Amino acid sequence: MVRESLETLKDEFLSRIAEGASEEEVERLRIEYLGRKGKLTFLFRGFKELPPEERPELGEALNRLRQFVEDRLEFRLGELKQREKERILKAERVDITLPGSRWERGRIHPLTLVMDEIIDVFLTMGFEIARGPDIEDDYHNFEALNMPPDHPARDMQDTFFVSQDRLLRTHTSPVQIRVMEQRRPPLQIIAPGAVFRHDDDATHSPMFHQVEGFMVDSHIAFSDLKGVLTHFLRQVLRPETGVRFRPSFFPFTEPSAEIDIQCLLCEGGGSTSEGQPCRVCKGTGWLEILGAGMIDPEVFRFVGYNPDQVSGFAFGMGVERIAMLKYGIEDIRLFFQNDLRFLRQFS
Ligand code: DAH
Repeated sequence: MVRESLETLKDEFLSRIAEGASEEEVERLRIEYLGRKGKLTFLFRGFKELPPEERPELGEALNRLRQFVEDRLEFRLGELKQREKERILKAERVDITLPGSRWERGRIHPLTLVMDEIIDVFLTMGFEIARGPDIEDDYHNFEALNMPPDHPARDMQDTFFVSQDRLLRTHTSPVQIRVMEQRRPPLQIIAPGAVFRHDDDATHSPMFHQVEGFMVDSHIAFSDLKGVLTHFLRQVLRPETGVRFRPSFFPFTEPSAEIDIQCLLCEGGGSTSEGQPCRVCKGTGWLEILGAGMIDPEVFRFVGYNPDQVSGFAFGMGVERIAMLKYGIEDIRLFFQNDLRFLRQFS
């Protein structure tokens, strides 16, 4: 009787633990068979009511069944663990033969490269960097630079006005005024930054960059200007570049000069090897690259300096223009179109 129920119990257990039992089901079976109110536990209790001569044999059978159930549960758990491990290994397998995903390396924009190079040369000569606002007032952009209202020179700089008195600065020269208003000589300053003009074609961009520079002390002469600019141009361009100073006019300098360099393409000859006029310098052999001069006494008066006691020079240059000449770029718009095929060529 008991022996039979042992057999049925075993069969029933086996069919329930057969393939497919989950971890929770295994736990449920453990409680159902071996728990305090479990089926086997129940049989162990009934064991005491058996006649003594049947006890040893049945006791052994019962113990064997319990061991069997325990082993099977354990085995099934192991099986499940192993299967889970295999699943994870398979799912998370890394194919180390696949090409990796590349990190594209960024590059420095050609204008930043040239700007940094320009700044470096001046820092080496002891200049310090100053900056001014992109949105200026009329006074700093024009008036204090000796361009009163209605001065014809204002026409040269097609201005974006923000309001009657506010405008996008048309050059970096107002930084001269701002620095001199705040400080006393000696001064040796460069002012790099963006400037804005209503102008848009292959060689003009409505936003471009300039580097302004000036030096003020008690005995600054035109020869200092020549020395500083010649050294600068030969550092940034080529050591043997020819440099020439031409008389010119700016309202904020007197005397004023424009500085030319020997053409970087035809090297000053003015023509190609086939005898055609050089297309970069239009056959002149020279390229205009800088405006400069001795700071006008009127400008010193605007900032409260005594022009009898101080003198100084100033200069301004276009960064895009220098970059175009240096790298032989013919269209300024390339700098701002963000075409990677263009940008990748500089490093
Ligand atoms: N501000 C002038 C311009 O944008 C450039 C310039 C010329 C600056 C002569 C100067 C200078 O400081 O002395 O056209």
